[in-house]
This record gives sequence, structure tokens and C-alpha cells, in this order.
Amino acid sequence: MSKRIVLLLLVALIALPMAFAGGQEEDGEIVIGANIYTFADNFMNGVMKPELESYAAERGVTIEIVDSEGQQAKLNDQIDVFITKGVDVLAINLVDPASARSVIEKAQSAGIPLVLFNKEATEAGVMDLYDQVWYVGTDSAESGIIQGEMMVSDWQANPDWDRNGDGAVQYVLLKGEPGHPDAEARTEYSVKAFDDAGIPTEELALEADPNWSTQHGADKMAAWLTSSFGDDIELVIANNDGMAFGAITSLKGADSDIPIYGVDALDQALTHIADGEMNGTVLNDGVNQARATVDLAVNAAMGMAPTEGTDWVLQSDGSKAVRVPYVAVTPENYQDFR
Ligand code: BGC
Ligand code: CA
Repeated sequence: MSKRIVLLLLVALIALPMAFAGGQEEDGEIVIGANIYTFADNFMNGVMKPELESYAAERGVTIEIVDSEGQQAKLNDQIDVFITKGVDVLAINLVDPASARSVIEKAQSAGIPLVLFNKEATEAGVMDLYDQVWYVGTDSAESGIIQGEMMVSDWQANPDWDRNGDGAVQYVLLKGEPGHPDAEARTEYSVKAFDDAGIPTEELALEADPNWSTQHGADKMAAWLTSSFGDDIELVIANNDGMAFGAITSLKGADSDIPIYGVDALDQALTHIADGEMNGTVLNDGVNQARATVDLAVNAAMGMAPTEGTDWVLQSDGSKAVRVPYVAVTPENYQDFR
């Protein structure tokens, strides 16, 4: 073989794998630097984290997931470490949805693509700062609308739920993290469903918890039940299942059968529905949100368009978001979600 042909062959041998590697590390393996805002969160730790790990393995990429322990400052440091290590792409669960800007700027100045997931940035226009940032989550309002419609139809079907017979719903609400788009929208739209149906509501109490925790649900519910309005409560609205689980423990402790609804459709919620201890929840499809997060991250790391070759659809409203639909889970259909 002439020297020229040997050289051409060599070039081809080197260029071929590189063409497939795109923006990957030299070792040919894609590494995703990821976090969960806190491993203490039932939904994030129980659904999203395991699926991120197993789906990344299925896709043949490496994902490193760190615990931000509910501290945005800690997350910022973790991102710096990921950048120094040279990860190919970042998949970030903001601790504070109002702090997206600094995260986006870090990724941008390092030239690393970024997929935000579960907590949507709240600062207007912030997603436009960088052409390599996307969001994977849900349409927050949809969960409140579905939960609200479920509660309205059950309320209408059960006249005895109006314990004091005044025609109005006296409710307590476990909100979750203040400023979190899911917490805000669920609070607004679940109650709005009663307004839309012409049913008056009266809020007896509302409590927020940045960690959406079971302990908080238990403590608040126990305190409410023994408060001056304890006997007036006709409905418990929980913006996630984790808080509902705590409330159910306290309701059971007080021998109370006040109806209660959650969001997420965690396995334990399905069991509570089966046992008649919970009236409904809304599937927050963490499995598909995790898969979309990994798919977008892998594409971005390879320098491809984020949804190329996938079934995910980016919203056409400029939000640069993939939104996975919510589904109502009731005593009639909960078996389908096991
Ligand atoms: C889930 C909550 C979770 C929160 C964390 C929400 O979408 O419904 O259970 O605590 O995300 O950001
Ligand atoms: Ca009433």
C-alpha cells in the first residue's frame, strides 16, 4: 500500500468514531452531571432518581446524581464541580426555581448544554439567555385542574360531605414549596374548579412546606384536627402525595374519614386508595419526565437537536419545554397505575 492510502485509512479509522461521538468526552462515553434538589423528597427520590439511573443505563450513558439537600448554594457548588470534572451535559433540578439565571450562566460560560427538570424557572425570559438550555416537566396548572374536577364530581356525588350543610366546602390545603410553579398552580386551579362549578369554598387553613414532606403533612393535619375549626373541616387538599400520607396518618389517628386528595400517584397512594383512605390523586409521570430528561441531555451532548429521534415534543410557545401530561387516578381506575 502506498503511504497515501495508509494515511487515508488511518484518518478514516480515527474520524469514524469521532463522527459518532459528536460532543462527547475523548473516552467516548457521555457523562451527565445531575442533581436532585433533595433526596428527602418522596417523588424525586422514589420515582425520578431511580428512573434517571435505570434509563441512563439503558441508553448506555453515565449519570452522576448528587443530593443538593435543599440548598441552592450547595447546588451551585455542585455545578462548578461537574464543570471542572468535564461532564458533557448538565441535568439540573433547581432547588430555588427563582435561581435559574445563575445556573444557566454557569452552563453557558462553560459551553455545556443544560436540561432543567421538575422545577421550572420562574424568572421571565431567563430561558432565552442560552440556546442550549431546555426544560422537562409538566403543565403545572393541569394537575390542579384534574385534581379539582375529581374533587368537584365526588363532592356532588356525596351530599353528606357537606357536614354543616351550608352548601360550601370548608377545606384545608397542604401547599408544598411556596414559589414552586407546581405548588402555586395546584393551589389556584384545584380550588378554581369549585368556583367554576358554582360551589362556594371556604379556606380554613393553608400551610406551605419547602420540602413537600410527609412529616409536615402529619404535623399540620394533627394540629388542624385539634384546632378551633377542627370539626369544620370537610376536605383536605394536598398538593402532593407525600404530604397527604402524613395527613392520612393523623386522620386515622383521630378516627376521621374526611376526604383527602393528592398529586403524584406514588405506589403508597394507590394502596391508600385501595384501602379507602384516600379519595384520589393525579399521576405525575416521573418515569417519562426522567426519560425525556435523559433523552434531551444525550442529544444535546451529541450536538443534536434536543428531541431528534425521540417522541418528545417541545412546546411551540417559546418555553423550550417538554411537558408530560398528568392523569386522574381514582378508586375506579387506580389498578391501571400499579
Ligand atoms: C411533585 C412533588 C415534589 C416536587 C418537587 C412536584 O412536581 O408533585 O411531589 O415534591 O415536584 O419539586
Ligand atoms: Ca360545608
